[in-house]
Order: sequence, then C-alpha cells, then structure tokens
Amino acid sequence: MTDQPDLSTTAGKIADLRARYQTAVVDAETAAREKQHKKGKLTARERIEMLVDPGSFVELDEYVRHRTTAFGMDRSRPYGDSVVSGVGTIHGRTVAVYSQDFTTFGGSLGESAGEKIIKVMELALRGGMPIIGILDSGGARIQEGVVALGKYGEIFRLNTAASGVIPQISLIMGPAAGGAVYSPALTDFVIMVDKTSQMFVTGPDVIKTVTGEDVGMEELGGAHTHNTRSGVAHYLAQDEDDAIDYARSLLSFLPDNNMSDAPVYETGFEWETTDDDRALNVVIPDSPNQPYDIHQVISGIVDEGDFLEVQPLFAPNIVVGFGRVEGRTVGIIANQPSQMAGTLNIDAGEKASRFVRFCDAFSVPIVTLVDVPGYLPGTDQEWTGVIRRGAKLLYAYAEATVPLVTVILRKAYGGAYIVMGSKQLGADVNVAWPTAEIAVMGGQGAVNILYRGEIKRAEEAGEDVAAVRSRLASEYTYNVASPFLAAERGELDGIIEPAQTRVYIAKSLRALRGKRAELPAKKHGNIPL
Ligand code: HXC
Repeated sequence: MTDQPDLSTTAGKIADLRARYQTAVVDAETAAREKQHKKGKLTARERIEMLVDPGSFVELDEYVRHRTTAFGMDRSRPYGDSVVSGVGTIHGRTVAVYSQDFTTFGGSLGESAGEKIIKVMELALRGGMPIIGILDSGGARIQEGVVALGKYGEIFRLNTAASGVIPQISLIMGPAAGGAVYSPALTDFVIMVDKTSQMFVTGPDVIKTVTGEDVGMEELGGAHTHNTRSGVAHYLAQDEDDAIDYARSLLSFLPDNNMSDAPVYETGFEWETTDDDRALNVVIPDSPNQPYDIHQVISGIVDEGDFLEVQPLFAPNIVVGFGRVEGRTVGIIANQPSQMAGTLNIDAGEKASRFVRFCDAFSVPIVTLVDVPGYLPGTDQEWTGVIRRGAKLLYAYAEATVPLVTVILRKAYGGAYIVMGSKQLGADVNVAWPTAEIAVMGGQGAVNILYRGEIKRAEEAGEDVAAVRSRLASEYTYNVASPFLAAERGELDGIIEPAQTRVYIAKSLRALRGKRAELPAKKHGNIPL
C-alpha cells in the first residue's frame, strides 16, 4: 500500500503533485509507448521531444479530462485527453505545438482535446510564434457528436485568423479523416509520412458504397498521392524523423510572425565572381529546345547551394522553395525546363501563387528565374479553368509588396512572360541573361503567322521549306525576341552575364531592404479561386 501524502502540509501537497504527475504524464506515456512502438510509431510526446530542442518542452493542460458521460465514457477519463500540447524551442526560437495521441480514443477530437488545441493556438497567436500540429487521429469523437464538430469549427476559424500572421505547419503522422483534414489544409505547409499517414474527406468504404469505386486507403489518400497528384502535401517524408527534420529546416527560413524578420545567419558572402559563378555561364545549352535542370542555377545563387524545396513532387514544371542570400531568407520561384519544357499549367500556377502569397505575407523577398515557353495548350487545361486558376499567379505577384527580383534566363513568351514576375506586375529589378528570348510567341509559331506568304512561295519554287522556315525563325528570334530590345526600352534594367547573377541578386536585395509599398485600402481582395 502506498503512503497517502499528508495534504495539510506543504511537503504533502508537493508529494501529491508528484504522484498526480506520475499518473497523468509518466505512467500514461509508458502505456502509450507500449501501444505505439508495437506499430512502429512514436508517441505524441516522443514526437514533440524530437521536434523541439532537447529539454525545452513545457507541457500545458496535462491534467485536463473530458466530461462526457454518454456511451459509458465516464468510466474512462484519462488525463490530458487525446492530445499533448505546449511550447518549446526550435533552434532556440519558441514555437507552440500540439500532438494528437492515437492511444487515447484513437486521437479523436472531443470537447476537451479541442479546447486544448484551441488554447495553444490562441497562445501562439498572442505570442506571435509559429504553431506546429502533429496529427494522428480518427477525427471528430463519435461519442461527443455536435460538441466535437463545434470544436473543429473553432479550430478552422483560428487557423484562418492565424493565416498570414504566424507560420502554421502540419505534420500528418497517422490518419486524418473527414472534415478533420481541413485544419491542415488551412495551414501553410503539410508534411506527410510515407505509408503511415492518410488524409481523405470520405474513406474507401463510403466511396465504395456511394460510387462503387474500389480504392485502397493508401492510393486514395496516402502521402504519395497527396504529394504527387492532389498537391495537398508539401513534403513526402520517408519516416517520422525525416518529417521532423524537414519541419525544423523549414522553420529556420521563416520569421516567427508577420511583424518580425526571418533569422539572419552568419555567412562569408563572396562578393567577387567565383569559379562556381562562372559555371553558370555554361548552363544554357546552345540549342533553344534542349532542357537543363534549373536546380543548377538555384544552387548557384543561394548561400552554400542550400535550397529547401517545397512541393518538389507536385507540378515539377515549376520549382519553389527557400534559400538564403547573404544569410537572409529568399523565396525562389523558377520554371523547370526539364519538366514539360517548363510550361505553365494549372497546377504549376496554383503551386507558385500559394508560395508567392506565403512569402509576401511573411516579408520574404522573392527571386524569380524565368525560362518559360508559355502556357500548356489543350482542352483539358481550358476546361479545368486555366483562365480562372491561372489568374491566381498574376494576382499573387501583382499584390505582392515584398522585394521582387526577376532574372530571365532563356524563354519568356506571351502571357507567361508577364506572369513570371514581370516589371509591369510590380517587380523591382528585372534583368536578363544574353540567352533570353522575350516575345509574344516563339520563332516557329511567329513564322507560321507572319511569313505564311513567303513559306508558300518557297514551297512553290521547290525550295527547302524547312531551311527557309528555320532561317526566318532565327531572324525573328534575333530581331524581335532579343533581350536588348527590352533593355533598350527600359523594360529590363540590364543584361548580365550568368556568372554575375549571384552577386547582382545580393546587391539588388540589399538595395531593396527598406522597400515600402502599399496597396489601396480594402477589406480584402477577391483572388480568383
Ligand atoms: C471515437 C474513435 C474514433 C472516433 C477511432 N476511435 N476513431 N473513437 N471517435 N472518431 C477509437 C476506436 O474506437 C478504437 O478504440 C481506437 O480509437 C483505435 O481505433 P481503431 O479503429 O482500432 O484503429 P485503426 O484500425 O488503426 O483505424 C484507425 C481509423 C479508424 C482508420 C482512424 O478508427 C476509423 O475509421 N475511425 C473513424 C474515422 C471517422 O470516420 N471519423 C469521423 C470523421 S468525420 P478502442 O477502444 O477499440 O481502442 C470528422 C468530422 C470533422 O472528423 C468535422 C469537421 C467539420
């Protein structure tokens, strides 16, 4: 029999606290470990411990218990309910975190768990610190009905209030089913773990009943699906460690809130042209249709080649992510000529616009690298709304007030020239490499329209039509698409050697550090959705 502490003394009260803490946290954690480790998964607390700096976590609400009596729930009232919440530090900066505990009622969200999450989100908003949610849950607690649904509603409202105020990151480490997927969807970055996380609004059984479609959980809403097909997720982690590493790296690029600056890292920035810089002079192939990997250029302009890509597997024809220039965070948006020739389509437009808006909301300058032959043609694109959905990127750039630096590397044709951070949309510094081609359309297309008569005459005269066409196209590209024409009119601020790009961008961003720009007062705009 254990000794009952004497609650009339201070020592007794402290002993009582220790005994309660033992039950609420230590014993509960031991039991959770046994269940989760069997499945090869970590517990809610272990995940937090891995995420935050060692010893920095301060748990909140560990004594909260649910008050539900329906369905015999009053027979089991575990401390902390189904979520662990609190604050800790990452790279020494404070973050708020909550982590759902699947071993308690399947991590489901009822009144008490909901209130814990709401409390820590409100704390994050008040304290201006990022919030990280670790999700592993069967969704709304079925026994608690409308009360559970209501708490989700409050969480969604807070996610929306926090949007653009504090960075919000969701780590999906198990199921996220039903309406519960919408909290992560409202956050800035969703990280999923391969094979062990799923997100779906309606599960395989309901789908089978309603539509007759046969689909497995993994195919329907696994990490691979959401990273490659739906674009819901921003990173496909190999395991939980990888997911947590990504979240920590991501945070190193981000400010704590929209009123603070991203951390500045010490760097030995090289102001002279280096051998690595000179390597950029040979990236663009002589043949205009030959692809190359844009990552070569990105790693050539960010500090130490360190680039954290966001959504690498979705719409790979555009590349977005964070790097640093002179130790300060920049957002990079770049067409990828090695995927679909770098054309813009709906997915690429939506991916890039959300990224532009994130950077703008958190005062992260944007560097845009352009090599785009135009929009992807086709009925599929037109009928799925390339007009409405493609307009988002125009809107996002036009609305952005952060420093915008654009470098045209090669092709910049038609509407795609305008959308990719053109001066007319509000970019501050626009330069091109001598390999740039800027025009309403490519040489081949233009020749078909402008020189129709000449080609017909060549045909009738029995000349080599392909050769004539190619000569005319080259003349057009040289005479009309030359970047020097744009520079002559001041549409470009200069033409630079590729090798000068890294230093040129650094100088431009320095010059723009104090940029002030305002939009007309309004409640909010109406971005085409
Ligand atoms: C209460 C739940 C629960 C829930 C799981 N559990 N989901 N309890 N409410 N929503 C409990 C189970 O009863 C079980 O308790 C324990 O958690 C573990 O669940 P298992 O089914 O044994 O685990 P597993 O086989 O791994 O399956 C996990 C699962 C499945 C895929 C998540 O449990 C499931 O399909 N749950 C229901 C999902 C769902 O439809 N949720 C409602 C979504 S609607 P015991 O005591 O046996 O260990 C929604 C609305 C939000 O969320 C609305 C916002 C607007």
